[in-house]
Amino acid sequence: MGIHDDPVTDEQWRALAAAARAASAHAYCRYSGFRVGAAVLTREGRIAHGCNVENASFGLTICAERSAIFRAVAEGASGIIALALYTPTPLPVTPCGACRQVLAEFGRDASIRCTCDSEVATTFTLAALLPQGFALD
Ligand code: THU
Repeated sequence: MGIHDDPVTDEQWRALAAAARAASAHAYCRYSGFRVGAAVLTREGRIAHGCNVENASFGLTICAERSAIFRAVAEGASGIIALALYTPTPLPVTPCGACRQVLAEFGRDASIRCTCDSEVATTFTLAALLPQGFALD
C-alpha cells in the first residue's frame, strides 16, 4: 500500500509516474511548447498513457490527462483507479477542471499524483480536486 487510504501501491505509482513522463516525449505542443504526459491505472490493472495534442484552432487541444483516459476507455477499461501527471515544471501542477470532470466519469474515487522535474510530488483524491462535481446520478 502507498500513503494512508491510498489503494495504489508504491510500485504502481512508480510505474504510472514513469509512463506519464515517457509519454510527455510524444506531446504535440508546437504552440505552447509545454510537454505534458499522463498515465492511468485501470480497474483491470492496466496502464494507459497519453500526452497533450494541440491544434492550430487552439480550443481543440486535448490535455494529456484526457488523452490517457480516452485511450484507456477505448482499450476496454471499465473504470480508472489512479492517474499520474507529469509536467516539465520545478513544482507539481494539478489537472485542469475539464480533465477533473472527465476523470470523475470513470473514477469518482480515483487518486491523482502530480509529478514534475524535481522530487516533489503531490497526491490528491479526485474528491479533493473536484468537490461537488457534476453527476447525473
Ligand atoms: N495541459 C495538459 O496537457 N494538462 C494539464 O494539466 C495542463 C495543460 C496542456 C494543454 C496545452 O497543450 C498545454 O498544456 C498548455 O496549456
